[in-house]
Amino acid sequence: MKLIIPLLLFVAYTAYKTYLYASKLYRNLLDARRSGIPYIVAPVWPINRLWLALEPLLMPYLRKMPFIRDKPWLMVSSGDWIWQERYGAFEKLGDTFMIVTPRYNAIYTAEAEVINQITTRRNDFPKPIQVYGTLDLYGKNVVTSEGSEWRRHRKITSPPFTEKNNHLVWNESLYQASNMVTQWVGKDGKAGKTWDNISTDAMRLSLHVISRAGFNVRCLWPGVDDDDEQALKEGAMSTAIIPEGHEMSYVESMSTMLHRIIVVLICPDWLMKYFPSDFLKKARLAYFEWGRYMKEIYQSKFDALKKSAGTNADEKLDLMGAMISSSGLLDDDATKAPTGSGLSESEILGNSFVFMLAGHETAANTITHALYFLAMNPGTQQRLQKEIDDIFGGRPISEWNYDRDLNPLFGGLAGAIMNETLRVIPPVVIIPKSNFKSGDQKLTVGGKEVIVPDNTYIGLCAAGVQRNPKYWPHGPARSAEDGGPMHPKSNLDNDLEEFKPERWLLDPNAKPLEETSDDEKARKEAEAMGVNTAPDTANTLFRPPKGAYVPFSEGYRACLGRRFAQVEILATLAVIFSQYSVELGVEDWADDEEVEKMGEKERKDVWLKARTEAERKVRDCMGTIITLQLRKGKIPMRFAKRGEEKFMFA
Ligand code: HEM
Ligand SMILES: *[C@@H]1O[C@H](CO)[C@@H](O)[C@H](O)[C@H]1NC(C)=O
Ligand SMILES: *[C@@H]1O[C@H](CO)[C@@H](O)[C@H](O)[C@H]1NC(C)=O
Ligand SMILES: *[C@@H]1O[C@H](CO)[C@@H](O)[C@H](O)[C@H]1NC(C)=O
Repeated sequence: MKLIIPLLLFVAYTAYKTYLYASKLYRNLLDARRSGIPYIVAPVWPINRLWLALEPLLMPYLRKMPFIRDKPWLMVSSGDWIWQERYGAFEKLGDTFMIVTPRYNAIYTAEAEVINQITTRRNDFPKPIQVYGTLDLYGKNVVTSEGSEWRRHRKITSPPFTEKNNHLVWNESLYQASNMVTQWVGKDGKAGKTWDNISTDAMRLSLHVISRAGFNVRCLWPGVDDDDEQALKEGAMSTAIIPEGHEMSYVESMSTMLHRIIVVLICPDWLMKYFPSDFLKKARLAYFEWGRYMKEIYQSKFDALKKSAGTNADEKLDLMGAMISSSGLLDDDATKAPTGSGLSESEILGNSFVFMLAGHETAANTITHALYFLAMNPGTQQRLQKEIDDIFGGRPISEWNYDRDLNPLFGGLAGAIMNETLRVIPPVVIIPKSNFKSGDQKLTVGGKEVIVPDNTYIGLCAAGVQRNPKYWPHGPARSAEDGGPMHPKSNLDNDLEEFKPERWLLDPNAKPLEETSDDEKARKEAEAMGVNTAPDTANTLFRPPKGAYVPFSEGYRACLGRRFAQVEILATLAVIFSQYSVELGVEDWADDEEVEKMGEKERKDVWLKARTEAERKVRDCMGTIITLQLRKGKIPMRFAKRGEEKFMFA
């Protein structure tokens, strides 16, 4: 009898919850109907945390259950569906479709015209910043703000990305890439060793580059130049040095904090502090230590700038120094609070951190993915090497020159390789937008006017639109003898799943795009806001339509570090391929000695096995945790002096 009351309460509660669920779903369904956008209904909000946690366990069963397995919502409800299904989901459901759920309605689009409208209507389609809220670890910043707050941040965070700073990025990338290559090939340059995860090294490289360009702190490469007495005297950091007052080295706290960022974001401080786990304790320590380092750098820059009354050009070269100098904090009557249009100290730290977060994995992964693709496509690699030879004419790296050498890299095969890598594997697969708080919005979808109902989540699907055959030059899919189509479901009848940088170069019909008056208005407004709208290169190359190529997003909230990242990536590729080639490791099938004895045909066979396996991993083993990268398994790679390759099949 005693159980009756709890039982009744439980039943009542369940009934109430079910009612809420059903009525919300019904209201959302009515919204979808009046919108005019094609929709499907899903029983769960796919970004619900509980669902995201359970989905990997449930999916395999749901995919087998009759009545459920064929439901379209199942295809678009896994956490990483846009990457798993690629363009396939849009081929089935349309380039723009809505998912009706018991929480929000969500629009997903792989339609360039739609993406272009949304990225250029900043007030109508703001970022759903609740998604980013927790990134305020060290202070409010440009990524986590919206509206007038965002404008204030953007005004101060955009100007530091100057050509001068890009010079620094170029110089430091050449220096760090040389060290990375030295690690791979040894100080004697003999090479030959197979490396299991070059991604770790690319991460180190990008971290070192951001440290230099962001804070003007050089980091030394463990085992390569970290015994450089001169550099250490000049203030360079190495993993071995723990300065007075610190418990962790500069480099280690920075990298540990970034690599355990999810833990630091999710776990409350008491849990990290008291839970008996070294992993958590170290994450916590790294978080605090990095905060301390940033504060010290801030203070020393602030003092130097103050002393020189803001005229010290060296201190303004890096991103943090430039932010301090235009923050208003150097004014004599400045307080610590943001004054009108300026930034506060904590906001400068917040932005410095968010630059690292935004620029670290994204750029590193792009370098790694380009190396994967080049190892799988030796013919392209050889053409790249020839082009690099033409550009640098054998000059030593110390004589490479930003003003002279960057543009030819940009406008040639190197640029096309970077573009194509980011087309096939965009680090940010979905760019979130919304009309939360901005009310019903008109939108043109498929040439027809529709309504985006109030409070809709919107996903701009970079990985989808960048393989939509409507917008991209394409040829037939790979032939069966050569392995067949690259993906089992997406773009089966064309080559858009394949890595083919030539598609950026071979467009005989390319003609300059006319700017419409709307475009011009949007551009002027954007430029006033410090958004870089300059096209990357001359228009003799293939230029995708607006909204079709969005690895850096587009419009007002486009990436601040686009040029920074491009300079870093191109410089790094140039250093590597000026002297070395990258090849797939074949150790799983044959060791060095066996390969040595093989004839041409046998070698090709073993290489093909390695290529098939690498392709499989790029296809099936990537996943998103903040950014997209290989999550399962490794793609072993080896570096060979040019001319000493084992698998250079054209
Ligand atoms: C290949 C490398 C990179 C890629 C693919 C990339 C991509 C993106 C994308 C897609 C966005 C929009 C995100 C969103 O709307 O949710 C973004 C924003 C941003 N990125 Fe990058 N990024 C890269 C490198 C960098 C670097 C190196 C930096 C800085 C050093 C940087 C700083 C930023 C910042 C500050 C924003 C926020 C801009 C705003 O909201 O106004 N990014 N990036
Ligand atoms: C980059 O390196 C060149 C040559 O070593 C040097 O002249 C130039 O001042 C450097 N630029 C920056 C911004 O560090
Ligand atoms: C690969 O990465 C792991 C984890 O970051 C690291 O422990 C390991 O030493 C790396 N392996 C190589 C060969 O660099
Ligand atoms: C790379 O993409 C950008 C952006 O669409 C374009 O302007 C540029 O011409 C492309 N570069 C090459 C070499 O195709």
